[in-house]
Amino acid sequence: MAPKFRDDADESMSSSVTPPPSLPEDDTTSQPPPSEPAAPAPQTQGVAPTGTTAPASAPSAPDNAAGWDEISDWYQSTYQISTDSPHYGPLCPDEAELRLCGDVKGKRVLELGCGGGQSAIAFARDGAHVIGIDISEEQISHARKLAEQEEVKVEFKVGDLADLAFVQAASIDLVFSSFAFQYVERFDRLCRSVERVLAHRGLFVFSHDHPFWDCIDASSGTLTRSYFDEAPEDWRWNGDPALPRMRSYHRTISDITTSLTRAGFELEMLLEPEAVNDPASPWARSYPLELMRSVPATLIVRARKAS
Ligand SMILES: C[S@@+](CC[C@H](N)C(=O)[O-])C[C@H]1O[C@@H](n2cnc3c(N)ncnc32)[C@H](O)[C@@H]1O
Repeated sequence: MAPKFRDDADESMSSSVTPPPSLPEDDTTSQPPPSEPAAPAPQTQGVAPTGTTAPASAPSAPDNAAGWDEISDWYQSTYQISTDSPHYGPLCPDEAELRLCGDVKGKRVLELGCGGGQSAIAFARDGAHVIGIDISEEQISHARKLAEQEEVKVEFKVGDLADLAFVQAASIDLVFSSFAFQYVERFDRLCRSVERVLAHRGLFVFSHDHPFWDCIDASSGTLTRSYFDEAPEDWRWNGDPALPRMRSYHRTISDITTSLTRAGFELEMLLEPEAVNDPASPWARSYPLELMRSVPATLIVRARKAS
Protein backbone atom coordinates (compact mmCIF):
# COMPACT_ATOMS: atom_id res chain seq x y z
CA MET A 1 0.00 0.00 0.00
CA ALA A 2 1.14 3.51 -0.57
CA PRO A 3 0.20 6.07 2.05
CA LYS A 4 -0.19 9.17 -0.08
CA PHE A 5 1.65 11.98 1.68
CA ARG A 6 3.61 14.62 -0.12
CA ASP A 7 7.32 13.90 0.17
CA ASP A 8 8.72 17.40 -0.16
CA ALA A 9 11.99 16.43 1.54
CA ASP A 10 12.60 14.07 -1.32
CA GLU A 11 13.16 16.42 -4.22
CA SER A 12 16.35 14.71 -5.42
CA MET A 13 14.78 11.32 -5.55
CA SER A 14 13.13 11.31 -8.96
CA SER A 15 14.31 8.51 -11.17
CA SER A 16 14.71 8.41 -14.91
CA VAL A 17 15.28 4.69 -14.96
CA THR A 18 12.36 2.61 -16.07
CA PRO A 19 12.71 -0.78 -14.37
CA PRO A 20 12.99 -3.81 -16.62
CA PRO A 21 9.70 -5.64 -16.91
CA SER A 22 9.82 -8.81 -14.87
CA LEU A 23 8.95 -11.66 -17.17
CA PRO A 24 7.40 -14.63 -15.44
CA GLU A 25 8.78 -17.93 -16.72
CA ASP A 26 5.32 -19.15 -17.46
CA ASP A 27 4.70 -16.23 -19.78
CA THR A 28 5.91 -16.88 -23.28
CA THR A 29 5.23 -13.32 -24.45
CA SER A 30 8.58 -11.57 -24.74
CA GLN A 31 7.18 -8.24 -25.97
CA PRO A 32 4.15 -6.37 -24.72
CA PRO A 33 1.24 -6.60 -27.15
CA PRO A 34 0.86 -3.47 -29.30
CA SER A 35 -2.07 -2.27 -27.21
CA GLU A 36 0.13 -2.15 -24.08
CA PRO A 37 2.65 0.68 -24.35
CA ALA A 38 5.98 0.46 -22.50
CA ALA A 39 5.92 1.92 -18.98
CA PRO A 40 6.35 5.69 -18.89
CA ALA A 41 9.17 7.27 -16.91
CA PRO A 42 8.67 7.25 -13.13
CA GLN A 43 7.21 10.15 -11.26
CA THR A 44 8.10 11.05 -7.68
CA GLN A 45 5.16 11.48 -5.30
CA GLY A 46 4.44 15.09 -4.55
CA VAL A 47 7.63 16.37 -6.21
CA ALA A 48 7.56 16.05 -9.96
CA PRO A 49 4.53 17.91 -11.30
CA THR A 50 1.90 15.50 -12.56
CA GLY A 51 2.82 13.94 -15.85
CA THR A 52 6.42 15.16 -15.99
CA THR A 53 9.35 12.82 -16.39
CA ALA A 54 12.30 12.79 -14.03
CA PRO A 55 15.78 14.26 -14.77
CA ALA A 56 18.38 12.08 -16.48
CA SER A 57 20.85 12.35 -13.56
CA ALA A 58 18.45 10.83 -11.05
CA PRO A 59 19.31 7.71 -9.01
CA SER A 60 18.15 4.26 -10.01
CA ALA A 61 14.77 2.69 -9.27
CA PRO A 62 14.10 1.80 -5.63
CA ASP A 63 14.53 -1.84 -4.68
CA ASN A 64 11.11 -2.72 -3.25
CA ALA A 65 12.35 -6.01 -1.75
CA ALA A 66 15.16 -4.23 0.11
CA GLY A 67 12.72 -1.50 1.15
CA TRP A 68 10.30 -4.02 2.62
CA ASP A 69 13.16 -5.85 4.36
CA GLU A 70 14.13 -2.54 5.94
CA ILE A 71 10.68 -1.52 7.17
CA SER A 72 9.33 -4.96 8.01
CA ASP A 73 9.96 -4.88 11.81
CA TRP A 74 8.57 -1.37 12.05
CA TYR A 75 5.57 -2.18 9.86
CA GLN A 76 4.64 -5.33 11.75
CA SER A 77 4.97 -3.74 15.19
CA THR A 78 3.20 -0.52 14.15
CA TYR A 79 0.16 -1.95 12.39
CA GLN A 80 -0.36 -5.18 14.34
CA ILE A 81 -2.55 -6.80 11.67
CA SER A 82 -4.95 -9.34 13.10
CA THR A 83 -4.94 -13.03 12.17
CA ASP A 84 -8.64 -13.36 13.01
CA SER A 85 -9.78 -12.98 9.42
CA PRO A 86 -8.12 -12.28 6.05
CA HIS A 87 -7.30 -8.59 5.80
CA TYR A 88 -8.11 -6.32 2.81
CA GLY A 89 -6.24 -3.18 3.81
CA PRO A 90 -6.09 -0.11 6.01
CA LEU A 91 -9.35 0.62 7.84
CA CYS A 92 -11.08 -1.80 5.52
CA PRO A 93 -13.72 -4.36 6.47
CA ASP A 94 -12.19 -7.83 6.62
CA GLU A 95 -13.19 -11.17 5.08
CA ALA A 96 -15.41 -12.04 8.07
CA GLU A 97 -17.56 -9.09 7.02
CA LEU A 98 -17.21 -9.11 3.23
CA ARG A 99 -17.34 -12.88 2.63
CA LEU A 100 -15.83 -12.84 -0.84
CA CYS A 101 -13.74 -16.01 -0.65
CA GLY A 102 -16.40 -18.53 0.34
CA ASP A 103 -15.77 -21.60 2.48
CA VAL A 104 -12.05 -22.39 2.18
CA LYS A 105 -12.09 -25.65 4.14
CA GLY A 106 -10.01 -28.21 2.23
CA LYS A 107 -9.29 -25.65 -0.54
CA ARG A 108 -5.86 -24.83 -1.96
CA VAL A 109 -5.13 -21.14 -1.41
CA LEU A 110 -2.24 -19.13 -2.80
CA GLU A 111 -1.61 -15.72 -1.22
CA LEU A 112 0.49 -13.30 -3.29
CA GLY A 113 2.47 -10.66 -1.36
CA CYS A 114 1.49 -12.23 1.97
CA GLY A 115 3.66 -9.90 4.09
CA GLY A 116 3.62 -10.98 7.75
CA GLY A 117 1.32 -13.90 6.92
CA GLN A 118 -1.77 -12.78 8.85
CA SER A 119 -4.30 -13.53 6.09
CA ALA A 120 -2.59 -16.79 5.11
CA ILE A 121 -2.77 -17.89 8.75
CA ALA A 122 -6.46 -16.98 8.94
CA PHE A 123 -7.19 -19.09 5.82
CA ALA A 124 -5.17 -22.01 7.20
CA ARG A 125 -7.04 -21.83 10.48
CA ASP A 126 -10.26 -22.13 8.49
CA GLY A 127 -8.99 -25.41 7.04
CA ALA A 128 -7.29 -24.32 3.78
CA HIS A 129 -3.94 -25.59 2.49
CA VAL A 130 -2.10 -22.33 2.05
CA ILE A 131 1.00 -21.17 0.21
CA GLY A 132 2.11 -17.59 0.94
CA ILE A 133 4.66 -15.85 -1.24
CA ASP A 134 6.39 -12.54 -0.62
CA ILE A 135 9.46 -10.87 -2.10
CA SER A 136 10.79 -9.74 1.29
CA GLU A 137 12.78 -12.22 3.37
CA GLU A 138 12.06 -10.19 6.49
CA GLN A 139 8.32 -10.22 5.90
CA ILE A 140 8.42 -13.97 5.34
CA SER A 141 10.49 -14.41 8.48
CA HIS A 142 7.74 -12.58 10.45
CA ALA A 143 5.14 -14.76 8.75
CA ARG A 144 6.93 -17.98 9.69
CA LYS A 145 7.32 -16.89 13.31
CA LEU A 146 3.69 -15.86 13.55
CA ALA A 147 2.45 -19.15 12.08
CA GLU A 148 4.60 -21.05 14.57
CA GLN A 149 3.30 -18.95 17.48
CA GLU A 150 -0.28 -19.53 16.35
CA GLU A 151 0.40 -23.23 15.69
CA VAL A 152 -0.89 -23.05 12.15
CA LYS A 153 0.70 -24.72 9.14
CA VAL A 154 1.36 -22.53 6.10
CA GLU A 155 3.95 -22.97 3.35
CA PHE A 156 5.75 -19.62 3.12
CA LYS A 157 8.07 -18.87 0.25
CA VAL A 158 10.33 -15.93 -0.59
CA GLY A 159 9.78 -14.97 -4.22
CA ASP A 160 8.41 -12.54 -6.74
CA LEU A 161 4.67 -12.84 -7.17
CA ALA A 162 5.12 -11.96 -10.83
CA ASP A 163 6.76 -15.36 -11.28
CA LEU A 164 4.40 -18.22 -10.56
CA ALA A 165 6.32 -20.77 -12.61
CA PHE A 166 6.83 -22.87 -9.45
CA VAL A 167 3.07 -23.43 -9.14
CA GLN A 168 1.51 -26.28 -11.09
CA ALA A 169 -1.17 -25.34 -13.63
CA ALA A 170 -4.79 -25.63 -12.43
CA SER A 171 -3.67 -26.58 -8.91
CA ILE A 172 -5.15 -23.69 -6.86
CA ASP A 173 -8.77 -22.98 -5.84
CA LEU A 174 -8.32 -19.42 -4.57
CA VAL A 175 -5.65 -16.84 -5.33
CA PHE A 176 -5.83 -14.05 -2.76
CA SER A 177 -3.84 -10.85 -2.40
CA SER A 178 -4.09 -7.76 -0.25
CA PHE A 179 -2.37 -4.50 -1.19
CA ALA A 180 0.55 -6.04 -3.04
CA PHE A 181 -0.29 -5.66 -6.74
CA GLN A 182 0.55 -1.97 -6.88
CA TYR A 183 4.21 -3.06 -6.63
CA VAL A 184 3.92 -5.12 -9.81
CA GLU A 185 4.55 -3.43 -13.13
CA ARG A 186 2.71 -5.75 -15.50
CA PHE A 187 -0.73 -6.48 -14.10
CA ASP A 188 -1.82 -7.98 -17.43
CA ARG A 189 0.90 -10.65 -17.21
CA LEU A 190 0.11 -11.30 -13.58
CA CYS A 191 -3.54 -11.98 -14.48
CA ARG A 192 -2.46 -14.50 -17.10
CA SER A 193 -0.19 -16.27 -14.58
CA VAL A 194 -2.96 -16.39 -12.01
CA GLU A 195 -5.39 -17.77 -14.58
CA ARG A 196 -2.90 -20.53 -15.39
CA VAL A 197 -2.52 -21.72 -11.79
CA LEU A 198 -6.24 -21.61 -10.95
CA ALA A 199 -8.37 -24.72 -11.20
CA HIS A 200 -11.62 -24.76 -13.22
CA ARG A 201 -13.86 -21.89 -12.00
CA GLY A 202 -11.24 -20.91 -9.42
CA LEU A 203 -11.52 -17.58 -7.58
CA PHE A 204 -9.23 -14.59 -7.73
CA VAL A 205 -9.84 -12.14 -4.87
CA PHE A 206 -7.61 -9.14 -4.25
CA SER A 207 -7.42 -5.63 -2.91
CA HIS A 208 -5.46 -2.83 -4.52
CA ASP A 209 -4.63 0.81 -3.69
CA HIS A 210 -7.67 2.56 -5.08
CA PRO A 211 -6.60 4.33 -8.29
CA PHE A 212 -8.38 7.55 -7.15
CA TRP A 213 -6.56 7.50 -3.79
CA ASP A 214 -3.34 7.17 -5.74
CA CYS A 215 -3.88 10.62 -7.21
CA ILE A 216 -4.36 12.47 -3.94
CA ASP A 217 -1.97 13.75 -1.29
CA ALA A 218 -3.34 12.42 1.98
CA SER A 219 -2.29 15.33 4.19
CA SER A 220 -3.74 18.14 2.04
CA GLY A 221 -6.37 16.24 0.07
CA THR A 222 -5.12 17.85 -3.14
CA LEU A 223 -4.80 16.19 -6.52
CA THR A 224 -1.14 15.34 -7.22
CA ARG A 225 -1.36 13.52 -10.51
CA SER A 226 -3.71 12.79 -13.33
CA TYR A 227 -5.79 9.65 -12.97
CA PHE A 228 -4.82 8.83 -16.55
CA ASP A 229 -1.07 9.25 -16.05
CA GLU A 230 0.45 5.75 -15.98
CA ALA A 231 3.93 6.79 -14.81
CA PRO A 232 5.28 4.73 -11.90
CA GLU A 233 5.61 6.55 -8.61
CA ASP A 234 8.45 6.65 -6.09
CA TRP A 235 7.46 7.48 -2.53
CA ARG A 236 8.29 6.93 1.14
CA TRP A 237 5.92 5.64 3.78
CA ASN A 238 4.13 8.60 5.40
CA GLY A 239 6.56 10.81 3.42
CA ASP A 240 9.14 10.00 6.12
CA PRO A 241 12.67 10.67 4.76
CA ALA A 242 14.07 8.13 7.25
CA LEU A 243 12.18 5.32 5.50
CA PRO A 244 13.30 3.74 2.22
CA ARG A 245 11.92 4.72 -1.15
CA MET A 246 9.45 2.34 -2.76
CA ARG A 247 8.13 2.19 -6.29
CA SER A 248 4.51 1.53 -7.13
CA TYR A 249 2.61 1.42 -10.39
CA HIS A 250 -0.52 3.40 -11.04
CA ARG A 251 -3.27 1.86 -13.14
CA THR A 252 -6.86 2.84 -13.81
CA ILE A 253 -9.89 0.79 -12.86
CA SER A 254 -10.44 -0.03 -16.52
CA ASP A 255 -6.80 -1.22 -16.82
CA ILE A 256 -7.56 -3.67 -14.02
CA THR A 257 -10.86 -4.94 -15.41
CA THR A 258 -9.53 -5.16 -18.97
CA SER A 259 -6.49 -7.19 -17.88
CA LEU A 260 -8.77 -9.55 -15.98
CA THR A 261 -11.23 -10.15 -18.78
CA ARG A 262 -8.49 -10.50 -21.42
CA ALA A 263 -6.79 -13.11 -19.22
CA GLY A 264 -9.99 -15.16 -19.09
CA PHE A 265 -11.74 -14.02 -15.91
CA GLU A 266 -15.35 -13.13 -15.27
CA LEU A 267 -15.61 -10.10 -13.07
CA GLU A 268 -18.02 -10.90 -10.24
CA MET A 269 -17.60 -7.99 -7.87
CA LEU A 270 -15.88 -4.64 -7.59
CA LEU A 271 -16.04 -3.08 -4.11
CA GLU A 272 -15.01 0.34 -2.84
CA PRO A 273 -15.63 -0.05 0.89
CA GLU A 274 -16.00 2.98 3.10
CA ALA A 275 -13.44 3.18 5.89
CA VAL A 276 -14.17 1.51 9.20
CA ASN A 277 -14.61 4.37 11.66
CA ASP A 278 -11.71 3.69 14.03
CA PRO A 279 -9.73 6.87 14.76
CA ALA A 280 -7.59 4.97 17.30
CA SER A 281 -6.34 2.55 14.63
CA PRO A 282 -2.62 2.84 13.80
CA TRP A 283 -3.68 3.08 10.14
CA ALA A 284 -5.46 6.38 10.78
CA ARG A 285 -2.19 8.35 10.62
CA SER A 286 -1.37 7.15 7.12
CA TYR A 287 -4.96 7.09 5.96
CA PRO A 288 -6.84 10.13 7.36
CA LEU A 289 -10.41 9.12 8.10
CA GLU A 290 -11.88 12.41 6.99
CA LEU A 291 -10.39 12.06 3.52
CA MET A 292 -11.44 8.42 3.39
CA ARG A 293 -15.04 9.53 3.82
CA SER A 294 -14.80 11.30 0.44
CA VAL A 295 -12.30 9.22 -1.51
CA PRO A 296 -12.13 5.42 -1.58
CA ALA A 297 -8.70 4.12 -0.49
CA THR A 298 -9.22 0.48 -1.38
CA LEU A 299 -10.51 -1.32 -4.44
CA ILE A 300 -11.49 -4.96 -3.94
CA VAL A 301 -12.07 -7.34 -6.81
CA ARG A 302 -13.58 -10.79 -7.01
CA ALA A 303 -13.10 -12.52 -10.34
CA ARG A 304 -13.62 -16.12 -11.42
CA LYS A 305 -11.74 -18.19 -13.97
CA ALA A 306 -14.16 -18.35 -16.87
CA SER A 307 -13.44 -21.95 -17.90
C1 LIG B 1 1.49 -3.44 2.01
S1 LIG B 1 2.25 -4.98 2.21
C2 LIG B 1 0.85 -6.04 2.32
C3 LIG B 1 1.20 -7.33 3.01
C4 LIG B 1 0.00 -8.22 3.31
N1 LIG B 1 -0.67 -8.64 2.11
C5 LIG B 1 -0.93 -7.50 4.23
O1 LIG B 1 -2.07 -7.24 3.83
O2 LIG B 1 -0.51 -7.20 5.34
C6 LIG B 1 2.86 -5.31 0.57
C7 LIG B 1 3.66 -6.59 0.50
O3 LIG B 1 3.92 -6.88 -0.87
C8 LIG B 1 5.22 -7.45 -0.93
N2 LIG B 1 5.69 -7.32 -2.30
C9 LIG B 1 6.01 -6.21 -2.99
N3 LIG B 1 6.39 -6.51 -4.23
C10 LIG B 1 6.31 -7.86 -4.35
C11 LIG B 1 6.59 -8.78 -5.40
N4 LIG B 1 6.99 -8.35 -6.59
N5 LIG B 1 6.42 -10.09 -5.16
C12 LIG B 1 6.00 -10.52 -3.94
N6 LIG B 1 5.73 -9.69 -2.91
C13 LIG B 1 5.88 -8.38 -3.11
C14 LIG B 1 6.02 -6.65 0.08
O4 LIG B 1 7.21 -7.30 0.45
C15 LIG B 1 5.00 -6.52 1.20
O5 LIG B 1 5.11 -7.57 2.13
